[in-house]
Amino acid sequence: MKNTKRNKTTILPILMIFMIINLPRRTCSVSVVQFIFGDSLSDVGNNNYLTRSLARASLPWYGIDFGNGMPNGRFTNGRTIADIVGDYMGLPRPPAFLDPSLNDDMILENGVNYASGGGGILNETSSLFIQRFSLSKQIELFQGTQEMIRMKIGPESADKFFSQARYVVCMGSNDYINNYLLPVYADSWTYTGDSFTNYVISTLDSQLRLLYALGARKVAFFGLGPMGCIPLQRLMSSDGNCRESTNKLSKGFNKAALQLLNNLTNILPNSSFVFGDAYDYFQDIIDQPGKTWFVRSFSNSDSPCCTIGKIRPTLTCTPLSTLCKDRSKYVFWDEYHPTDKANELMAHEIIRKLGYKPINGTTN
Ligand SMILES: *[C@@H]1O[C@H](CO)[C@@H](O)[C@H](O)[C@H]1NC(C)=O
Ligand SMILES: *[C@@H]1O[C@H](CO)[C@@H](O)[C@H](O)[C@H]1NC(C)=O
Ligand SMILES: *[C@@H]1O[C@H](CO)[C@@H](O)[C@H](O)[C@H]1NC(C)=O
Ligand SMILES: *[C@@H]1O[C@H](CO)[C@@H](O)[C@H](O)[C@H]1NC(C)=O
Repeated sequence: MKNTKRNKTTILPILMIFMIINLPRRTCSVSVVQFIFGDSLSDVGNNNYLTRSLARASLPWYGIDFGNGMPNGRFTNGRTIADIVGDYMGLPRPPAFLDPSLNDDMILENGVNYASGGGGILNETSSLFIQRFSLSKQIELFQGTQEMIRMKIGPESADKFFSQARYVVCMGSNDYINNYLLPVYADSWTYTGDSFTNYVISTLDSQLRLLYALGARKVAFFGLGPMGCIPLQRLMSSDGNCRESTNKLSKGFNKAALQLLNNLTNILPNSSFVFGDAYDYFQDIIDQPGKTWFVRSFSNSDSPCCTIGKIRPTLTCTPLSTLCKDRSKYVFWDEYHPTDKANELMAHEIIRKLGYKPINGTTN
């Protein structure tokens, strides 16, 4: 009897000390989430809510290999590269910013994806699509998200939340494909390839510095692929081969972007700006689709899986289109976008290059 009583009285203060030590830490504990900025390669539904946008993946057969197979806003048959990289790291998939069910609790648990089909580093890119979020607009929306989170958990916890988060920026293709390379845009006659790239990179520079000023510390930028090899660009070359002049633009951009990211990491304290580069790997897959890539090989790397009979180009995959027999054997899903399986390979290349490891969802 006496012994039990003594045990109880000693356990209680110990428990209380434990709680006192732990309480403040518990309120500070925040999840590691991702904030994703990008274009159609990363869009998970924003453009479907931009009802005047001409770039939307709202119809079959987009999403046919994802979840229930219904269109979900992704411009591919399955997952995006950012989906696959995030899954590998054990991070939740951030919902689309315009998802009507998005609220502060969801943001604290999952982050936000601001990516928008047609979006560019430059404001003027893809103006023909009428509605899309440029990088600058996406960062503006992110600032709104920050206000909301500060109100919810207070400025100190919010600072911590935003400094521990992972930031993914995947943009640039549209600045070339839907701006510089289309003669309807003023930029195409104002600039040469090199001076245009300088203009895009200096705009990216100020946008990334703004993200840093807003508290971002761990930023991954996914570079451009061999844009001259997307099916649409091949159609425009006389011999059906990749357009080397377009690939040269990709390479020039990637080189300057890598330099920019290294510079930013050196200049900005506590920052890490890394470059996820899969250009060479993707080019190799396109050149030798039949080789064994990781666990698979492809039968086609020059035309879209989704087309309307032999009519090309079909600017988007539609319910009237027919699909290739085996979607896992095609590198490209439509005229612009890779398939789920091609994205998987590129994602693994980026993971390998950046030495990514799964990280824990919560840190104190
Ligand atoms: C780009 O658009 C944003 C609004 O989304 C605006 O605040 C910014 O000044 C514009 N940048 C340029 C260079 O025009
Ligand atoms: C990176 O820094 C070097 C050295 O200061 C500079 O010459 C170069 O222009 C910078 N490049 C970019 C893209 O910021
Ligand atoms: C860098 O990190 C240190 C240690 O966490 C912190 O004290 C300092 O304020 C940080 N500086 C910036 C500019 O984020
Ligand atoms: C992640 O979690 C495991 C077990 O839960 C732990 O052993 C490890 O130290 C954690 N790593 C980090 C970086 O927090």
